[in-house]
Amino acid sequence: DQNEQPYRTSYHFQPPKNWMNDPNGPLVYKGLYHLFYQYNPKGAVWGNIVWAHSTSTDLVNWTPHDHAIYPSQQADINGCWSGSATILPGDKPAMLYTGIDPQKKQVQNLAVPKNLSDPYLVEWVKSPRNPLAAPTTANQINASSFRDPTTAWLGQDGVWRMIVGSKRRRRGLAVLYRSRDFVHWIKAQHPLHSAPLNGMWECPDFFPVSTNGVNGIDTSSLMDSGVRHVLKVSLDDTRHEYYTIGTYDRSRDRYIPSKGSVENDSGLRYDYGKFYASKTFFDSIKNRRILWGWINESSSVEHDIKKGWSGVQAIPRTVWLDKSGKQLIQWPVVELERLRTKRVDLTNKILRKGSVVSISGVTASQADVEVSFSVWRSDLEKAESLDPTWTNPQLICSQKGASVAGQLGPFGLKVLADEQMKEYTAVFFRIFKRRGNNYVVLMCSDQSRSSLDDDNDKTSYGAFVDVDPQHEELSLRTLIDHSIVESFGGMGKSIITARVYPTIAIGEGAKLYAFNYGAQNVTIPRLSAWSMEKAQINQSQR
Ligand code: FRU
Repeated sequence: DQNEQPYRTSYHFQPPKNWMNDPNGPLVYKGLYHLFYQYNPKGAVWGNIVWAHSTSTDLVNWTPHDHAIYPSQQADINGCWSGSATILPGDKPAMLYTGIDPQKKQVQNLAVPKNLSDPYLVEWVKSPRNPLAAPTTANQINASSFRDPTTAWLGQDGVWRMIVGSKRRRRGLAVLYRSRDFVHWIKAQHPLHSAPLNGMWECPDFFPVSTNGVNGIDTSSLMDSGVRHVLKVSLDDTRHEYYTIGTYDRSRDRYIPSKGSVENDSGLRYDYGKFYASKTFFDSIKNRRILWGWINESSSVEHDIKKGWSGVQAIPRTVWLDKSGKQLIQWPVVELERLRTKRVDLTNKILRKGSVVSISGVTASQADVEVSFSVWRSDLEKAESLDPTWTNPQLICSQKGASVAGQLGPFGLKVLADEQMKEYTAVFFRIFKRRGNNYVVLMCSDQSRSSLDDDNDKTSYGAFVDVDPQHEELSLRTLIDHSIVESFGGMGKSIITARVYPTIAIGEGAKLYAFNYGAQNVTIPRLSAWSMEKAQINQSQR
């Protein structure tokens, strides 16, 4: 019940109770979407990890099934950790996953569906040959840093490839394996890619993207023109994910990032807030690539135990390469829009300097808001200049929170806000001037006032958004779901996801506002806000 559980979500994926972390092996089979996930059947903290399993026809409503993969052989007796699905020729799904063996070593295993005529794929059979890859003294693999196999891809030579995340001393590694039959896997001499001083690369993901248009490409596609490759890793040290766009050299089996490396705070992130251990899959029904990612709690372990659960999944996002070729674009799957109801609109509204405007008529604790802002050309030159040493957007956002007035901005939304503004989460923009006629757009998600309860992590997050306010509107879409604020800036160019735990801005007490604390007026060409219906997510079958 929402009164006793104000932080449970209404349209984000979560199990009925207990701990959840990484999304595992997402796939589509016989018209059904499958999501598996790291799950503790025994409590709200990490441990006893199995693969829980749900299916959906629309990526929005989910039916739970029995645990798909759980400790049952030597090779996974101490846990079934993360892994990925590969669709083998003849439409046969196969799961590669990490098992924890009796010596607590991390090894790679295979499981396949017991019955391919069952679209729900409820039963999985493990290979009697498990483990298929293990750390040995000969291969120099670190037994406690060897996990999270990717979706495998097939080369022209008929050989499968997969990567496994690892590290050697401080160097992050994408260890490459090859196989002809998906059972006998041989480690390649060189990793697909590596980078110094990264620490462990968890949950690598490697996939092609098209250089023209939004369509996804099968991981095993052999197309070489009009294609770039993406490598994403999850850095255990910082708990952030980074990706690069680059080239896959098939002759050497090496990935070459175009610029920078998958390495540090200068890399690109899927999400500048909370989002981890993500992975993509190719949706062959709708020809798109879909990204799943885990959003952990920002509250204490005691709080998790008290409420009986921990962890949610972000709304699945369609991903494609931006026209610039320099970054990915992410957008919530269109199916989510079916939950929209009770629309409220504003058009060509002037948002005056220093004002807060209430947007009434939506269920503000459970909403989808799309808004755009534009500034007058003549006002742009009044923008504050950006100190060239201010390169860390999160730091700027934490120093210039929502209540710090500026010239152009802060303007944006206050969500999960109570009428007295004792609690609110502010998602907003600021425009800065750089040398030349150059502008920098900063997007912030300020959680510092999100809850009167100080026993939560209320860190602010920030990202630069690659839009030009001279010619483009600044758009923002925010998905609000009780304790989640998932915000897409610049039509999916920069994303920030936050967890918040309001104590009075809950249920009917939650409101929605637009605000402008800049010294200049801005225009809202369009705003649409919808209440969201509750999705059917993992409700018990009994
Ligand atoms: C990432 C991760 C993976 C591992 C799994 C264990 O969150 O640590 O590296 O396979 O979670 O649950």
